[in-house]
Amino acid sequence: MQESIYRVLAPVHGSKTLALLADLHDHAPRALLPSLQVRRPDLILIAGDFLHGDAPEGEELKMQSSQSLRLFRELACIAPTYVSLGNHEWMLCPEDFDCIAKTGVHVLDNSFVILNELVLGGLTSGTVLRSRREHNPKNGRYSYQSPYSHTSLYHQFFPIKREIDPEYLPDLTWISDYLKTDGFHILLSHHPEYGQYPPVHLMDKPIELILSGHAHGGQIRYYSPRRHSWSGIFAPFQGIFPRYTEGLHKGRYGNLIISRGLSNTGPVPRLFNPREIVYVVLEES
Ligand SMILES: [Fe+2]
Repeated sequence: MQESIYRVLAPVHGSKTLALLADLHDHAPRALLPSLQVRRPDLILIAGDFLHGDAPEGEELKMQSSQSLRLFRELACIAPTYVSLGNHEWMLCPEDFDCIAKTGVHVLDNSFVILNELVLGGLTSGTVLRSRREHNPKNGRYSYQSPYSHTSLYHQFFPIKREIDPEYLPDLTWISDYLKTDGFHILLSHHPEYGQYPPVHLMDKPIELILSGHAHGGQIRYYSPRRHSWSGIFAPFQGIFPRYTEGLHKGRYGNLIISRGLSNTGPVPRLFNPREIVYVVLEES
């Protein structure tokens, strides 16, 4: 597991360290907790996809049997921990949210909190919203099936029109209240592509710092001698040769920082693409 550190100027008193975790996929790398215990961040921020697999059929709750629940308890002992919802959280039901609340971890589900000079928001994946529009008649808790139809999978990897399928659009109605609140705005947005493809236009919003994951570094990375840099092969919703798979990207108003993620899941193994924990140091401007 690699530690990456980015420094960002912000109107804060002294400096603040944020740990960005993404794409745990119900897996806790052995090196994760020791890293956090040494670096002692002021906040731990999880940018979605902490779950993986299917929703349970019976009475069991998804969160109860997840490794993430145990990890959340440990993270909350290290620093205040906030989580936003990625596409794999489509299966969460209200009782799962109660399980998470008992760990001490706070869920930002299209909502925000004020933390002194910081205004921290969590943008929920449009996949979760689509799932909530459905209902499982079997157990009344979870949506009927995974929202990934063959059509949408095709759309994820070959987004020819470079637009997000309207079925998977996020809810931005709360963002205006979020932006009206004074402070340094940090938004956990699992999907980095929300900032780029019309009609979402997250990058047109004056958000100082967006923290994302989802792209898994492009899964297989290669070195381009022409560009003198490493790039990824593919990422869901961005398609092949995606642009936003890791690192810091400067936008019109602020920065987008993308984690390559912390899990090894996926139909194709990671190659030249170590898992990553990101630390963002906010330095007084
Ligand atoms: Fe994801």
